[in-house]
Amino acid sequence: TLLDERPKPLAGKRIVVTSGPTHEPIDPVRYIANRSSGKQGHAIAAALAALGARVTLVSGPVTIADPHGVETLHVETARQMLAAVEAALPADAAIFVAAVADWRTAGEAGEKIKKVAGEAPPALRMVENPDILATIGHSPQRPGLVVGFAAETQNLAENARAKLDRKGADLIVANDVSHGSGIGPSGVMGGDRNRVRIVSRDGIEDWPEMTKAEVAKRLAALVAGRLTGG
Ligand code: CTP
Ligand code: CA
Repeated sequence: TLLDERPKPLAGKRIVVTSGPTHEPIDPVRYIANRSSGKQGHAIAAALAALGARVTLVSGPVTIADPHGVETLHVETARQMLAAVEAALPADAAIFVAAVADWRTAGEAGEKIKKVAGEAPPALRMVENPDILATIGHSPQRPGLVVGFAAETQNLAENARAKLDRKGADLIVANDVSHGSGIGPSGVMGGDRNRVRIVSRDGIEDWPEMTKAEVAKRLAALVAGRLTGG
């Protein structure tokens, strides 16, 4: 088929991708989540596999299908996602697309929290989750190429540049989620289109708005170039 005739610049390369949100439990029936659909991360995993890479996709809870030709591991929490990523290493590259919850509840209740007449609502105490990208970006197991994402509503260039250094990444794919373009049913989180800027130590490259599948293909080509010295 046509598929088999496409060049496979990433043949023999192992790549780990995170995608989707995480769910952080409050009690056995409730959790804290976010609007990430997993569309962009899953599309990137598929695009890398199409270029011949052996891809492990670590996905939070999503409603979309596992991509074809990709080993997909399903997790719920940030801590589970970190453990799955670490277990998938070593790799040639890692791409952190997941919208990982920054915080989890301090203690998951073992039983469903009951509403008791006359009692005040419960207060949620939060603690910080591990930063998966920063952990891997600074680990001895660090893949040769580490790519992060950043959703920003202001000072995109400066914030993305700061994340590059703080997290030990080579590239940050930055989304401008301000002025309604980002969050919501038709925006970056949940929508099918994306407009990103690629921030590296060499500078910033603006990509035009395109579909998430097109962003994925272009990013996969960029990764192939970096990994093969092209
Ligand atoms: N990330 C991660 N683990 C976390 C938080 C973020 O791996 N606990 C990764 C994301 O997958 C993304 C990058 O870090 O690739 C940037 O995430 P972002 O939420 O933009 O950065 P934060 O450092 O959490 O800063 P803030 O949310 O305050 O902007
Ligand atoms: Ca965050």
